[in-house]
Amino acid sequence: MHASSGSVLVVHGGAYDIPLESHEAHVAGCRDGVEAGWAVLTSGGSALAAVEAAVRVLEENPTFDAGRGSFLNAAAQVELDAIIMDGRDLNVGAVAAVQHVAHPVTLARLLLTESEHAMLAGAGAELFAREHGLPICAPEELLTGRELERWKAAHATGKPQAWEPWGSQPHPSDTVGAVALDAAGNLAAATSTGGTFNKHPGRVGDSPLVGCGAYADNRTAAVSATGEGEALMKVVISKLVCDFIAQGMNAQEAGEAAIQILAERTPGEGGVIVLDRRGQIGIAHNTPYIAHAYVTSSGEIVTGIQAPASNRNQRSDDGL
Ligand code: GLY
Repeated sequence: MHASSGSVLVVHGGAYDIPLESHEAHVAGCRDGVEAGWAVLTSGGSALAAVEAAVRVLEENPTFDAGRGSFLNAAAQVELDAIIMDGRDLNVGAVAAVQHVAHPVTLARLLLTESEHAMLAGAGAELFAREHGLPICAPEELLTGRELERWKAAHATGKPQAWEPWGSQPHPSDTVGAVALDAAGNLAAATSTGGTFNKHPGRVGDSPLVGCGAYADNRTAAVSATGEGEALMKVVISKLVCDFIAQGMNAQEAGEAAIQILAERTPGEGGVIVLDRRGQIGIAHNTPYIAHAYVTSSGEIVTGIQAPASNRNQRSDDGL
């Protein structure tokens, strides 16, 4: 996939075994996210502003495991992680285990611009939000009936699992993210998540960890990752993709090479969206699907729930 010049934006809405009945909602949500980010880019906004705008829309959509509608932890609480990274100077803002902020990606960006720190967690992150006038929300505002019912059903069994089967109920997939290249040639990446279902309170996944959940470097690429955090962080997957690009691979090759390492070295599954400094796009995963949308430099929006690379000749994008 190639967008020859100008701005480019890619978003994902999680890589998972997304059931067929949820495909349309995932694709529509990704389209909404990409439209919001694209509006920023086409009005002269930065890549950093565009990825924040795109991820905010995804955080608002309860289809996804980010912001409102996130999975609940073992104590029936929402705990959110997010990261944003600026490819110009490698500056990072990241927050972990926040419970009272509807848009953790915005809190992460505030940290990037207004603090000498790169990462804050829990109560300290929320104190920083208050100090800088970011809205604080009640946990109930992030909670959906769907997720509460799911948590109750899992706990009624007496043996709730971290990776509960979802049955036929609509459910969120996973982490959301965005990568952008702006007209000035700057790259940025952002990722936001509610983490894994029934996680231990305080568990932090890959998403807010620099180089794991996201990475952006104007010299190579911007990457956002999704999938099983405990596996993704072991291979530092987003930085790994950038390192492969530095070695001469294109965006798709680098994404696939990193997923190959993930598959070889861990039992985990995941996916990445990749945007290199020339505007080339890569989408790679070893999950059954990855929900995504992107806008090319000509302004065309492309959406899909992609089949694995190994199947791509047999199973093209759903075209939803
Ligand atoms: N990739 C999201 C998580 O594991 O928390």
